[in-house]
Amino acid sequence: MCSIIGYVGKSDAAPILVKSLHRMEYRGYDSVGVATHDNDSICMRKGTGRVQEVNDQKGLDALSGVTGLGHTRWATHGAVTDINAHPHMSSSGDVAIVHNGVVENHETLRDRLKEDGYTFASETDSEVIANLLQYHKDRTGDIKESLINTIQDIQGHYAFIAMFDDGAMVSARYGEPLIVGMAENGIFLSSDVLGFIEHTDEAIYLESGMCCIIQNNDVQIMDYAGNVIKHRTTTVSKEFGDTRMGEYANYTLKEIHEQPNAILRAGMNSHKQMEQVSDMIRSAGFAYATGSGTSYNAALIGQKILRRSAGIRLEVILSSEMSAESDMLRSGDVLLAISQSGESADVLDAVRIAKKAGCVIVCMVNSVNSSLAKISDVILLMDCGQEIGVAATKSFMAQCGLLLRLVDTLTDGAGIDHNKISNAISDVISNSDMIRDVAYTLGDTKDVYVLGRGIHHSVALEAALKIKELTYIHAEGLNGGEMKHGPLALIDKSSVVIVMNPHDDTYNDMLLGAREVQARGGTIIGVSDKSSDVYDHWIGIPSGDGVTYSLAEVVVSQLLAYYTALARDINPDYPRNLAKSVTVK
Ligand code: G6P
Repeated sequence: MCSIIGYVGKSDAAPILVKSLHRMEYRGYDSVGVATHDNDSICMRKGTGRVQEVNDQKGLDALSGVTGLGHTRWATHGAVTDINAHPHMSSSGDVAIVHNGVVENHETLRDRLKEDGYTFASETDSEVIANLLQYHKDRTGDIKESLINTIQDIQGHYAFIAMFDDGAMVSARYGEPLIVGMAENGIFLSSDVLGFIEHTDEAIYLESGMCCIIQNNDVQIMDYAGNVIKHRTTTVSKEFGDTRMGEYANYTLKEIHEQPNAILRAGMNSHKQMEQVSDMIRSAGFAYATGSGTSYNAALIGQKILRRSAGIRLEVILSSEMSAESDMLRSGDVLLAISQSGESADVLDAVRIAKKAGCVIVCMVNSVNSSLAKISDVILLMDCGQEIGVAATKSFMAQCGLLLRLVDTLTDGAGIDHNKISNAISDVISNSDMIRDVAYTLGDTKDVYVLGRGIHHSVALEAALKIKELTYIHAEGLNGGEMKHGPLALIDKSSVVIVMNPHDDTYNDMLLGAREVQARGGTIIGVSDKSSDVYDHWIGIPSGDGVTYSLAEVVVSQLLAYYTALARDINPDYPRNLAKSVTVK
């Protein structure tokens, strides 16, 4: 998703901004730009591509001045072009803005501003913010009034930072994240703590519906009516700044390797909250869960674990489907809202709908300061450290870890041993070379199908998602028994079918399905604790209880996807078109 960054301080702004944009790259983007203020004028450089590329070509970090703003764009309105990249300037060039989110009434505003003689260069919704600020500044001559009038005009959800030609910086947050960083060398405004963590761990989390002005090295925080609000400074966990790759080739591999620890840590310090949530679920006998992408798949795993190990029914609703399903929600129902970032627009929307129906919201998030945490009644912390790779790996494991702790609490400690899972994950990781060899045979594959039954079907869905995200190969997770009811028509010599086949009472049926695929020319990769002559490639996993074994299967699929990405020369950390936290609907 777009990242915005602003800096007002004592040092040269441009190199600081470019570094901040680098640190926020993981959020996903397609273009980059920086603008600085110097000698009462604003200079801007921007273009499509990665931060390093655009900086090499256009010298973003060579702009002069101690005040500036920067942006990485994830296109929503208008193609990926240099002109549509941010910052955007007002038509007079006296205001520059960067924006994350959507201005819903941009067409009306654009028409109105055009009638008043303001011109537009881009196809973006964002450019209206620059001209609107200029419009109000031209009429009032006052920065604060210009900001307040502008935010009253725009509808939608957004965070923006604007810089005026006198060096004043203003900003507003409605729905999208925005954090102020108070450093010795200056003041930062950023979408993400990573934008300034190198300079300070002192942060002010702006609430939605707050705006601010930075002038004379001071920040004034206000509500949308312009009333000054007292703010609280939070010390951010240093761990969020610890995003070095260390010995690893990239973040995705590092994060896959962090999973034995992630499963142990999740929920370790949430005993009180776990008891509270367990009591609520026990007395209701059921709960709802919601999430998007990988977090949705974690909820599906949770559904199977809670039912089998604690006799609790968990109804899982895709966050983007909540409005269609909300008729079944009743006041007092418990909703587990699962989100790594705590910022996904679909999840936040689902929670708002559930709150309206009177549900109690329990979130599973990785940051207590996220928007989701703020609107939840109980927070269960994943505690797995910042995840940089766009495709979720360790955060998925931490979500499963939290769900397992919930089972532990619901069953008074009769849950599954986390150490055992941690060891099983380590075993899979130590088998990486073999998984890599199989992955390198997948380089030219066009279609992959992943089959599984029961909990292994949920694993298959997550495996297929990882393959899509990391390798750009078409992948589908299917129920093992369903292949012959339609998908078999798709199988030919070019198809690869991954069979999640534990040696349990489904083993022979799964093998039968695999033989049917093989008879049609498909290649079979068996992920199993028992080998078979049906498998063209066999990835062995040590036997274990259903949950331990399933989470080991997840790690196999992550590594398969990861090494296939390398075989296809794809950077696994930043898949094309994807964003780490999708803050638009
Ligand atoms: C995006 C990411 C996915 C992620 C999903 C949910 O689509 O690309 O990898 O699973 O968001 O993210 P969340 O932060 O809500 O868990």
